[in-house]
Amino acid sequence: MILSIESSCDDSAIAITEIETNKLLFHKKISQELEHSVYGGVVPELAARLHAEALPKILQECEPYFKDLKAVAVTSTPGLAVTLVEGVTMAKAIAVALDIPLIGVNHLIGHIYSLFIEKETQFPLTCLLVSGGHTQVMEVKSLSEIETVAKSMDDSFGESFDKVAKMMGLGYPGGPLIENLAKNGDRLKHNFTVPLHQSPLIAFSYSGLKNAVRLAALEEQKSENPDFKDIAASFEHIATKHLTMKLKKYFKTVRPTTFAIVGGASANLYLRARIEELLKPHKAELLLSELKYCSDNAAMIGRVAVEMYKRDMFSSIEELDIAPRSQL
Ligand code: KG4
Ligand code: ZN
Repeated sequence: MILSIESSCDDSAIAITEIETNKLLFHKKISQELEHSVYGGVVPELAARLHAEALPKILQECEPYFKDLKAVAVTSTPGLAVTLVEGVTMAKAIAVALDIPLIGVNHLIGHIYSLFIEKETQFPLTCLLVSGGHTQVMEVKSLSEIETVAKSMDDSFGESFDKVAKMMGLGYPGGPLIENLAKNGDRLKHNFTVPLHQSPLIAFSYSGLKNAVRLAALEEQKSENPDFKDIAASFEHIATKHLTMKLKKYFKTVRPTTFAIVGGASANLYLRARIEELLKPHKAELLLSELKYCSDNAAMIGRVAVEMYKRDMFSSIEELDIAPRSQL
């Protein structure tokens, strides 16, 4: 069994995964969304303090598994420096106390493996990662052959939802709040420009759209009873159209056979439906994580760790360090 820890942002989570079967024997996550909601985004120092409280509590519940642990894994990159440290320090302490090897896991690879929790892997695939920190398309052939073919030049897809929600005073995380508000809105009411629509680049950008939405929200605020649902719907529509337009362009050169969407924002049903439509003419298979494993969790870190364990991909205690900004 492997014990895995996730603390790269605002979720404290620990999982226990059986090496031979990939079975998830234990998983618990304590989310800090409520605590950060009043600030409209994650406050790193507050997040670190909450991890320091939550992780030991969850770890206590794992005690019955300690005697069977073969390794301890932890997200070491990328993420917030002050929160990564919490998980990594705990993992090192466990490695020393139980005299077991240590595995440092890349959070982004974790999101890819959220597709395969309690399952066998299925490669090759083209993968769209849409989270709070990243928006990128990757060609994934195996654990060690991952090529990023397109990424955001500024804000990420999920981050733009968070910022737009903050402008509307909705709270954090913005993704589910905007998605909910958009359901009853008119998607065509606000004619926001699709980012980079005239550019041949296969890349993403959300800062311009975010600013256009800010102006519309400020205008709406002037009315007697501000109602943001049409702005939310039009924003979600254009944010998604930007992704599908660039993917359509990409598919002209690389035809998709198996396509996956992962990351917190892959829970967005409007996005899922638009990508399904896009894949239809290609007859490509769409892989999605279970809803509960789209956002950050330790089960996905444990699933990667099983693969790394089988390949002896261990780190020494002195060697394993956090790398807040690494990229794939
Ligand atoms: O993967 P994740 O939990 O954390 C990171 O690795 O960043 O993703 C969190 C992000 C947040 O920005 C959140 O607003 C966004 O995913 N998100 C959504 C939805 N659910 C979560 N964005 C759009 N629609 C959603 N339904
Ligand atoms: Zn994540």
